[in-house]
Amino acid sequence: MLIHSASQLLTLAGGPQRGTALGALGIIENGAVLMRDEKILAIGTTDELKNAYPDEPTLDANRCVVMPGFVDPHTHVIWAGDRADEFEKKMAGTPYLDILAAGGGILSTVQATRTASMEALIAQTRPRLLRMFRNGTTTAEAKTGYGLQISTELRLLKALLTLDDESPLDLVLTFLAAHAIPPEYKDNPQGYTDEITSTMLPMLKEWWETHAPGSPLPFVDVFCETKAFTLEQSRQILTRAGSLGFPLKIHADEFDNLGGAALAAELNAASADHLVVTSDADIQALGKSDTVAVALPCTPFGLAECKYTPAKKLLEADAMLAIATDCNPGTSWNESMQFAIALACRYMGLTPAQAIAASTINAAHAIRKSGEIGSLEAGKQADMLILSVSNYRQIGYRYGTNLVKQVIKRGQVYSVDVGYYRTA
Ligand code: NIG
Ligand code: FE
Repeated sequence: MLIHSASQLLTLAGGPQRGTALGALGIIENGAVLMRDEKILAIGTTDELKNAYPDEPTLDANRCVVMPGFVDPHTHVIWAGDRADEFEKKMAGTPYLDILAAGGGILSTVQATRTASMEALIAQTRPRLLRMFRNGTTTAEAKTGYGLQISTELRLLKALLTLDDESPLDLVLTFLAAHAIPPEYKDNPQGYTDEITSTMLPMLKEWWETHAPGSPLPFVDVFCETKAFTLEQSRQILTRAGSLGFPLKIHADEFDNLGGAALAAELNAASADHLVVTSDADIQALGKSDTVAVALPCTPFGLAECKYTPAKKLLEADAMLAIATDCNPGTSWNESMQFAIALACRYMGLTPAQAIAASTINAAHAIRKSGEIGSLEAGKQADMLILSVSNYRQIGYRYGTNLVKQVIKRGQVYSVDVGYYRTA
């Protein structure tokens, strides 16, 4: 099929964009894309491709923007229940980490998740994935982390594999048993850390080889933070995971600067995420590494805080910057990358072009998939969006509504702009 007459075809061609090179959209005016099966076969202007492939079935983009599907490289999308009551408390002034220390926060979602059946977990997560997809996310990373015991953590992985199978949205999985200290280990965080490294990670490896044979190992992630895991415990977990062959990620510097970003760079992690209070030395370390800096602007927004990831410093240090939603029930229940972009422009000082690159090709690199997705280039997966606007600068400028009209995933066209309808 030939998609033609894109006012601007944003190709994002040329690989991940480092430092101040961020924002190269690779625009083709009056652009066209030829796809075959699940892949992109050719890219060019409408005239070029119509001449070269005159008999191809066509889809008219109607002078709208066509771009790669968004990649959301950091979500905690699977959980049971909600925390609307805690939101009310936080807005009345109780700090997030105090709620966690009192057994609420992540731990209240852990309680709800441990007691939920597989069917309930799938049923509650499915509509979130649907909203992501309708808002243009064609691949998302999804973390466990609300089990904090091997049985529930593996149940979450199983549910995510099922959801990945049934939905057009592709999921890339991450094992985050190190998300919080579970109640059983309340006074013994080192005991839980040892349990992760000596028992859980080897079990995970064996489980994965039987339940997802042939597919690449999931990421292993740690919440390196005061009241969660210390820098030394994070190092213990990630080093062990790395030696078992797992690719790595870290939550660092959301509230306190413990040195997690430099650790990620040292261990060649795929990404270091949050990075709100990162020190200058840690920013330099990221800039010299292949570890993507993933900013989560919906999180300070969700917590009504004023401090955001220092994007300009990261870019000046030559880091690779990506953006994600962090979709989770505690700090950021938001499924839309368009909204993350709107915040990144306003509070991280990105231009729309930079925020788009951070949400596509660089986001793909944060989950080590920039060779397959994140840009429109021959040979890559046919994952793209037809927007309802003709200029890319509308992205980020507008927020709170969905600019996506059609999502193309692995060559299949999905209309997400349903118009008005009325039921009997
Ligand atoms: O990325 N920081 C840790 N994890 C999530 C919050 C999870 C929760 O509150 O349930 C985050 O913000
Ligand atoms: Fe997170």
